Amino acid sequence: MPEWLKDAVFYEIYPPSFRDENGDGIGDLNGITARLDYVRDLGCNALWLNPVFDSPFLDGGYDIRDYKKVAPRYGTEADLVRLFAEAHQRGIRVLLDLVPGHTSDTHAWFQASCRAEPNEYWGRYVWTDHPFAGIAGHPYISGMKERAGSYMLNFFASQPALNYGWLNRTEAWMSAVDAPEALATREAMKDVMRYWLDRGCDGFRVDMADSLVKNDDENKSATAAIWRDVRSMLDRDYPEAALVSEWSNPVQAINGGGFHMDFYLDHVGNGYNTLLRDYEAGGADRSYFRKDSGGDIRRFLDDYLPKYENTRSRGYISMFTCNHDTPRPARTLSADEMKLYFAFLMTMPGVPFVYYGDEIGMKYADVPTREGGYQRTGSRTPMQWDHSPNLGFSIARAEDLYLPVDTAPDAVTAADQEQDPESLLNTVRKWIAVRHGYADLQADASFAVLSAAGQEVFAYQRGKLVCVLNPSGTAKQLRAGQLKGKKLLSVTGKAELSEESVLLGPQSFALLG
Ligand code: GLC
Ligand code: CA
Repeated sequence: MPEWLKDAVFYEIYPPSFRDENGDGIGDLNGITARLDYVRDLGCNALWLNPVFDSPFLDGGYDIRDYKKVAPRYGTEADLVRLFAEAHQRGIRVLLDLVPGHTSDTHAWFQASCRAEPNEYWGRYVWTDHPFAGIAGHPYISGMKERAGSYMLNFFASQPALNYGWLNRTEAWMSAVDAPEALATREAMKDVMRYWLDRGCDGFRVDMADSLVKNDDENKSATAAIWRDVRSMLDRDYPEAALVSEWSNPVQAINGGGFHMDFYLDHVGNGYNTLLRDYEAGGADRSYFRKDSGGDIRRFLDDYLPKYENTRSRGYISMFTCNHDTPRPARTLSADEMKLYFAFLMTMPGVPFVYYGDEIGMKYADVPTREGGYQRTGSRTPMQWDHSPNLGFSIARAEDLYLPVDTAPDAVTAADQEQDPESLLNTVRKWIAVRHGYADLQADASFAVLSAAGQEVFAYQRGKLVCVLNPSGTAKQLRAGQLKGKKLLSVTGKAELSEESVLLGPQSFALLG
């Protein structure tokens, strides 16, 4: 387990939307490098970059054409290596995005696998041996290629599934998990990882990590075994490298697969979802952080606690503000509500992730789809830096931008918020700094719930520290023996301590120690 993860606070960057340095309207690697001081000053000491590889961009770059080539629109390999070096100089680690489940249908491996005659790449993807029948229960395409078969999809139609074998094999064409062609796919992916680790990257966020072996069992144990194999390569050759999975089942991903961290994704009704966006179309919003929503912290805890307890000795659950696939928190929460969410996020166990722009409360925008984003596009608009043209994102003409910038006169910007000590940005900076300031707030420090009911004071202990949170619009009091002798260390809102009780003003959070 890399030691640095204990104090890591990640910042996720969607590369085309962060900063366009060469003025062509699309964010690029040099733009990210140029703004690393901002990331450092925010307090983040790690980055996750969405895919920066050569791609036709039918799914925002998750459709990779060449794993070892930087997409020309983002720059060159030399630019990426320079980004690693500049980040390291500032104490920032960089995770790239590994997409192991599928490639673009324009990848050379796939094109070779489509030929009528068998060749080295025939077994690299999941193909049947008949063009007139499909793959029961799985999406597939037939009739488009020379090869007499159908191929399986892993996501969109342009993303054929790589072949890691099938656990439960019902057809002759299904490879076994340990068949030479399935093992070759696995080795090819390890080779991609080594390529970038050797050039200075610090690990990977793994896309659809649970999707590798088809017809896997309910614990996804065959897929997990592949990741354990990858983890042993890291432990042996790259012990400082970190892996975070898009799996959202920490027991399977961490205990089973050996991932260091697993994302707590946004699934309707799960613990994360109940905190930020607990609403049904047309129905009431019961999000816990929404003031006076009637939300209940126990709905989060009922889901989170068993997962935390089962995995805490082996790895970390990663909570985030949102990511490139989900609505931004500002869609449901006000700035004051987000301040409390950040205070909570930075005082919980595990390794937190901040999605670019959430630290200033960027809106979930109403924009047309771009590059397979569909409703996700609204969370992918350009970073809002200042009030120079295009909010400081790019000097290109507005019509040439990757996505439109927020044209509202009151569009939030980082520059404005820097000036205001009470801004969301400065509150986020404060809580990230607080996290770095106490060993008891690190990823692996103990966590115990002291008090939890509805939107009454939620109190939890981290090591010897106590965190108290009141998301409601009325002052709330909590009495507890654990408060005795404590002092206020950091507060958002209002808090008064006396003997064994704390009085929290409306929408307030306090760290006591
Ligand atoms: C993951 C990515 C998403 C992508 C999909 C297919 O869910 O986060 O953006 O479209 O996988 O690769
Ligand atoms: Ca550019």
